[in-house]
Amino acid sequence: MSGSEAPNHTADLVIVANRLPVDRVVNPDGSIEWRRSPGGLVTALEPVMRANDGAWIGWPGGTDEDLEPFVEDGLSLVPVHLTEAEVEEFYEGFSNATLWPLYHDVVAKPEFHREWFDAYVTVNRRFAERTADVAAENAMVWVHDYQLQLVPAMLRELRPDLRIGFFLHIPFPPAELFQQLPWRRQLLEGLLGADVVGFQRPGAAQNFVRLVRQRVGHKTHRDMVYLPDGRTVQAGSFPISIDVKGLEELAHSEPVQQRAKEIREQLGNPKRVLLGVDRLDYTKGIRARLRAFGELLEEGELDVEDAVFVQVATPSRERVEQYRVLRDDIDRLVGRINGDLGRIGRPAISYLHTSYPREEMAALYRAADIMVVTPLRDGMNLVAKEYVACRYDGEGALVLSEFAGAADELRQAFLVNPYDINGMKASILEAINADPKSLNKRMKAMRKTINEHDVSDWASSFLDVLSETKPMHRKQLRP
Ligand code: ADP
Ligand code: F6P
Repeated sequence: MSGSEAPNHTADLVIVANRLPVDRVVNPDGSIEWRRSPGGLVTALEPVMRANDGAWIGWPGGTDEDLEPFVEDGLSLVPVHLTEAEVEEFYEGFSNATLWPLYHDVVAKPEFHREWFDAYVTVNRRFAERTADVAAENAMVWVHDYQLQLVPAMLRELRPDLRIGFFLHIPFPPAELFQQLPWRRQLLEGLLGADVVGFQRPGAAQNFVRLVRQRVGHKTHRDMVYLPDGRTVQAGSFPISIDVKGLEELAHSEPVQQRAKEIREQLGNPKRVLLGVDRLDYTKGIRARLRAFGELLEEGELDVEDAVFVQVATPSRERVEQYRVLRDDIDRLVGRINGDLGRIGRPAISYLHTSYPREEMAALYRAADIMVVTPLRDGMNLVAKEYVACRYDGEGALVLSEFAGAADELRQAFLVNPYDINGMKASILEAINADPKSLNKRMKAMRKTINEHDVSDWASSFLDVLSETKPMHRKQLRP
């Protein structure tokens, strides 16, 4: 941590997200280290922040200290402190045991607790107050994700001069599911504090507008909401992307290529390396994909001498019950498949429970013949796009769930229904046996798509719409 503080009321662009882009880690010897936070949100926003010299407001992880604003690796960071009880009730509780499963098709049962929502209100207010302190006059504020859906309205009350955008990185559910929420109206009204509310897919924007019409009673026309005070709120879809060029360059670098070769050697140079990379989350469909692979081995369609599955699963939200259950389930499943089907020096699944630097991720993508991305529901899934970005050779195959936002764009992937294990087995085999020419054609088409729409296009498309909402205050921001 460097000494310089982020001064008040000076930032023209303020990013507000539950997490700072770095987590505070206390080493066993007591020393403090800042480590990049997990997940797609940080991957997407870091380049935008760097280009605009903005301020980033978020939770530094942990509950130890109430930290002052600071600059880390050139980024101006403003920490928001959470108490132990708030981590339990706001983060693990309402955000990740109520909203997360509800917004992901109820693939796990959401829990509704009134005290969790109270903590959500308290913490959202703290984020809004911190933002009001930091933002310059007429600044643009970009609030992110499901943990902070009340912030736009709270912030508008404190600072009506600001242009406020909100982007939801995860799916927004259909009215039939959203309606279960006892606090459905409060959340919709919270979001309506923004000038622009962005989603990953057009269907999510439609769900939101429909709910506002039905539940709050405002007039709407297409993607526009008309509020009684004369203000308008624009909903829209802004599919997120990645830093395609940056990642491709990294994948091209000598050390990454060398490391990719080494990974294959360490795996025993099998004919086929299959790869899965996810946070260890029940929405990611890890269980179904490993079962599909295990059955292909059992049935003799594949052989452990020829094929290995590398599954990287970063531990996530480990104190939330559903995540604990998942971790035990996957441990057992991997143990069973390896015990039944592996041979000495040839495990069927190489299971890695850790977070890696970007170089290692790029090397893994380079080493993998088949990337298997099978979420039961996912806002976008950046891993799928990262794999494509790293395949500058046009080789490799992507097996991708229809239920990931990325499937809207990566149409040439081997698209699968992750609930259909037999269908997944067939698609994995099809990808493994496809002729290199057809794989090349698919990969080229997917690379064209991601090259035409990278993370800076995503950010500028959102910020352009936001700045157009009040043209007299327009500030030129570089995405
Ligand atoms: P989510 O936001 O739900 O975690 P995404 O696929 O959209 O899912 O984004 C995950 C991001 O986290 C990607 O940028 C990916 O590279 C990164 N990531 C996932 N697993 C790891 C890991 N084991 N080590 C380092 N980065 C990881
Ligand atoms: O994109 C979804 C998301 O929940 C982000 O908001 C978050 O940064 C990431 O996944 C990782 O989750 P968490 O912050 O709970 O570890």
